[in-house]
Amino acid sequence: MRIGIIGAGNMGATLGRIWATKGHEVFFSFSKNPSKLKELASSVSGARSGSPSEAAQFGEVVMLATQWGTTQDAVKAAGDLKGKILIECTNPLTPDFSSLAVGGNTSGSEEIAKRAKGAKVVKAFNTLGAQNLTNLRYGALNADTFVCGDDAEAKAIAVQLGKDLGFDVVDCGPLSSARYIEGLGMLWIKLAYALGQGPNIAFKLLKR
Ligand SMILES: NC(=O)c1ccc[n+]([C@@H]2O[C@H](COP(=O)([O-])OP(=O)(O)OC[C@H]3O[C@@H](n4cnc5c(N)ncnc54)[C@H](OP(=O)(O)O)[C@@H]3O)[C@@H](O)[C@H]2O)c1
Repeated sequence: MRIGIIGAGNMGATLGRIWATKGHEVFFSFSKNPSKLKELASSVSGARSGSPSEAAQFGEVVMLATQWGTTQDAVKAAGDLKGKILIECTNPLTPDFSSLAVGGNTSGSEEIAKRAKGAKVVKAFNTLGAQNLTNLRYGALNADTFVCGDDAEAKAIAVQLGKDLGFDVVDCGPLSSARYIEGLGMLWIKLAYALGQGPNIAFKLLKR
C-alpha cells in the first residue's frame, strides 16, 4: 500500500520504517528542514520525501503524525484530502504536554476531520510511546491499539496497518470515541513520565 506520511518525527519516521519492512511504499513529509526528510527517506527501502501535498497525492493512505500545535497547518499544507483515508495518531496536548487541549464534547480527531474536509479520518496508534513500536510484544501478549472512525473501509485498512506493526487492534466504534482514546493516550504519558512507570508500558483489553 502507498502511505504518505505527514510528520516524520518520533512517530512518523518509526511508522514509515516499519511499514517499509512490511512491503508498503512510504513517502515522508513535513519538516522545517527538508534535507532531514531526504536523509530519512534515503535510509528507508524505497522511500521518498517531499511536501505534505505530494505525500497526500502519493498515498492511498495518509498518516498524520504531527504535534498538536502544528497539526492544523499540516492539514492545510496537505491540500485536498477529499475521499482520502487519513489515519492520525495525534494526542492534542497543551504546549507543556501536561494535559489535553481539547476533549469532553470533541477530540483532536474530530477537529482534524472538520478541517480535512471529505477525508475518512481514523484515530490509531496514539496510546503508547513511539519507542514501543519496534517491539509490541509484552511477554505472551501484543500491545493493543485502539482505533475509531466513521468509515468502515478506512477503519479496516487502519486495522490491517496496525496488525502489520504487531498490534492487537481494538475497534472502538465511531470517530467520536477518539474523545476517550485520546484520554488513554494522556494516561499513558502520565503513567510513563509523571508516575514513574517508565515508557515500557502498554494497554491491553482483557476479555472473558
Ligand atoms: N512520540 C511519541 O511517543 C508519541 C506516541 C503517541 C502519539 N504521539 C503523538 O503523535 C504526534 C507526533 O508526535 P512525535 O513525537 O512524532 O512528534 P515530533 O517527533 O515532534 O515530529 C513532528 C514532525 O513535525 C515536523 N514539524 C514540526 N514543526 C513543524 C513546522 N513548523 N513545519 C513543518 N514541520 C514541522 C517535525 O519536523 P522537524 O522537527 O524536522 O522540523 C517532525 O517531522 C503528536 O501529536 C503526539 O502527541 C506521539
